[in-house]
Amino acid sequence: MPTPSLHTARLRLRAFEDADANDLFELHSSAYVLRYWDSPPWHERVRAEKFITACRQMAQEGTGARLAVDRVSDGAFIGWCTLNRWNPDFRSASLGYCYDDAAWGHGYATEAARALLRWAFDTLDLNRVQAETDTRNVASARVLEKLGFVREGTLREDCVVNGEVSDSWVYGLIRREWQSSAESVPAP
Ligand SMILES: CC(C)(COP(=O)(O)OP(=O)(O)OC[C@H]1O[C@@H](n2cnc3c(N)ncnc32)[C@H](O)[C@@H]1OP(=O)(O)O)[C@@H](O)C(=O)NCCC(=O)NCCS
Repeated sequence: MPTPSLHTARLRLRAFEDADANDLFELHSSAYVLRYWDSPPWHERVRAEKFITACRQMAQEGTGARLAVDRVSDGAFIGWCTLNRWNPDFRSASLGYCYDDAAWGHGYATEAARALLRWAFDTLDLNRVQAETDTRNVASARVLEKLGFVREGTLREDCVVNGEVSDSWVYGLIRREWQSSAESVPAP
């Protein structure tokens, strides 16, 4: 899977570069941002470097695309989104995202994910995209619902976040539902 460069009205989605390591480390060392994340905050900067290496590996191996998201107005890195676990036989993949709390509440996560989904459905011939979210993560559930995902069930005691056992919701978006919802949202 090649890593695409995508543009929306307010955002640019692009491949990660080595120069993103500081911003990425800052984002992933925040306990507040990661309070519903399925792994703990980072304490060593090398984790950011490994993450960027893994992004390149994903692209080379064709298993997914992890994209840095910049805000066009000031060029700031605000977070990232990913399409991973691509299974060409099942024509399925998973969606994920993480943004700096200073950028929350402006519709950026939804805008970026919509562009990534549009690219994925168009170029990878996907039939299904799945996403999971901690049941306490209301903002993430809302992003998925705005994108047309349907809540399909609960994964009981799916994760242990900060020592606390937590349930996850599983969401799915099927190609035909995406196509009908995409018709009502103009391309950027
Ligand atoms: C979840 C996350 C991606 C949302 O990013 P965002 O850019 O703020 O998302 P958007 O602005 O596109 O949409 C958020 C929606 O949730 C709503 N929302 C946010 N907090 C809420 C709350 N506590 N209760 C109810 N709704 C809430 C917002 O009002 C908005 O809905 P609206 O457009 O109908 O008003 C962001 O909070 C994040 O990166 N969190 C940390 C990482 C994470 O949890 N990732 C998801 C793992 S599954």
